[in-house]
Amino acid sequence: MGPILPLEAIIGVVRAYYVFATFFIVVLVTVPYLRRTLLAYGKATADRSPPKHFSLEQITVRKSWFWHFYALGLPWTCTLLFLYLKPESGFVTREAFDRSGSGRGQVGAGYVQPPIETVLALAMMVAQTGRRLYENFYVHVPSEATMHVAHYVHGLAYYFLTPIAVGIEGWRRAERSLGWTDLRFRHVCGIALFAYGWYEQHLAHVALADLRIPGKKKGTATSTTISTRNVYAQPKARWFKHVSSPHYFFEMVIYLSFCVLTGFENLTSALVFGYVVISLGIEADQSWRWYKAKFADEVPRNWKRFIPFVL
Ligand SMILES: NC(=O)c1ccc[n+]([C@@H]2O[C@H](COP(=O)([O-])OP(=O)(O)OC[C@H]3O[C@@H](n4cnc5c(N)ncnc54)[C@H](OP(=O)(O)O)[C@@H]3O)[C@@H](O)[C@H]2O)c1
Repeated sequence: MGPILPLEAIIGVVRAYYVFATFFIVVLVTVPYLRRTLLAYGKATADRSPPKHFSLEQITVRKSWFWHFYALGLPWTCTLLFLYLKPESGFVTREAFDRSGSGRGQVGAGYVQPPIETVLALAMMVAQTGRRLYENFYVHVPSEATMHVAHYVHGLAYYFLTPIAVGIEGWRRAERSLGWTDLRFRHVCGIALFAYGWYEQHLAHVALADLRIPGKKKGTATSTTISTRNVYAQPKARWFKHVSSPHYFFEMVIYLSFCVLTGFENLTSALVFGYVVISLGIEADQSWRWYKAKFADEVPRNWKRFIPFVL
């Protein structure tokens, strides 16, 4: 008996999703109606007046529902980590494990991500979804902004598929023993890059929350500032001095760290990274344009859209 689930088919489906999502988002940008309806969300839609007739634009949910993504992603990633460390459960059966020769062999074909990289990638994903869930409850000060329901469904799919993507190429190997001697220089670089991106993204989110309730995170907020919940301002803290959306930039850094961890050999992780670069690059561009239109006098000269000092 082979693996319970067809591993190569799962890898194919996950890769296809990211290739399709990347192309689809490029198509959305080039068609103004779709760009306005499906791509714009949050502050980009805040000033919209309700259309006179029913339109696709109206099928929205609250943007603050972002927390659902992480409420799905966190336990799902923990489950995958558990299943990975128990090879007889999940995608690989005990029989396949034994048949592969004292549990050392390979299930499926192609590149095999070593166990240490798979475990580290899943642990990093736990850290990311865990922090994002925490921020949604204890850091962000959400307005009544909305996102399109298609965006919401894609977000759920993303946090179901990405924890699979960052580790799936390690499931080809039935043997999953771990040891400190497996640690390589690229793993240390990947973890360091992830930790830096993780920390800076958190600080960017704190800076955005501070615009609405100054001192909320430090516990020095006053109740009179609650009325600023629906207000947008020009952020100026830390990396916001150089770039319009440092939190998007550091999201890209976080997914780059998964590629560094695996020496750019895990194609599935690389496709996730490609998708994040394109989709958040487009969102960062929209955000930059929005700030330019709203706060022309306050926007610094040479303020970049996405990558500090570069783009
Ligand atoms: N991996 C992916 O594909 C992916 C996709 C999307 C997002 N993300 C990540 O999720 C995180 C949040 O993304 P997002 O799109 O929600 O970011 P965002 O639109 O910048 O919003 C983040 C928070 O800051 C508030 N905010 C934004 N600009 C503000 C301003 N000028 N003044 C006051 N408050 C402001 C927002 O309020 P509102 O409630 O009014 O919006 C929201 O509470 C980001 O770090 C991003 O990287 C990842």
